[in-house]
Amino acid sequence: TKAGVLQNLKVLISAGPTREYLDPVRFITNRSSGKMGYALATAALRAGAQVSLVSGPVNQPAPMGVEIVFVETAAEMYDAVLAQADHSDIYIGAAAVADYSPVAVEKTKIKKQAEQTSLILQKTKDILADVALLSNAPFTVGFAAETNDLEAYAQEKLYKKNVGMIAANWVGREQGGFDSEQNAFEIFWHNGRTSLPMTDKNQLAEQLISIIATKFNEKNRV
Ligand code: C5P
Repeated sequence: TKAGVLQNLKVLISAGPTREYLDPVRFITNRSSGKMGYALATAALRAGAQVSLVSGPVNQPAPMGVEIVFVETAAEMYDAVLAQADHSDIYIGAAAVADYSPVAVEKTKIKKQAEQTSLILQKTKDILADVALLSNAPFTVGFAAETNDLEAYAQEKLYKKNVGMIAANWVGREQGGFDSEQNAFEIFWHNGRTSLPMTDKNQLAEQLISIIATKFNEKNRV
């Protein structure tokens, strides 16, 4: 990334998984190392931005110079992101937010009883979609990890959630994705697309930040 392409801009990034508790000792989560979000924070900082990170539980070193708010649940992440979104220029939703959480969180440990059991789940609030709906919305970037029909789902997200850009990646292929050091993106915005081939996540973050800066600056700093 060219130094300074995000100078004087506030970039808010969400990263890592969320935990949706069933009881004090159990939770539902998503597979996510947080590596991509943290690499994006570092790349945005190098591009001159003031960077805030809202992070789920991860094992990543805190990038120096980045302000981090740690959260656990999707509801906590929602509140932490919405508290900063309206005074941010760019929001990058790189967190693997749980789509559903248990309707009831038991106060005591659930005991083993019947042979079969079931969980009642409810949808979590969509952080990215709600940020994009703000009257004073930042430029929004979302992610899409798909096993099939990648372009169709990415395009649908772009329009349904009304976000500025979607970075989509294949999952369940040989390389890239979850715990991997590497990934590749198909990037979509309203009138165009580009591909970032398989590379190290730090490299990929630099490239994605540079594309985001170009789009943001085209729109807002002509
Ligand atoms: O629709 P889907 O969940 O696949 O969209 C993924 C994108 O939406 C990611 O950028 C993710 O961080 C964001 N998301 C969110 N809040 C949710 C679910 C997903 O911000 N509750």
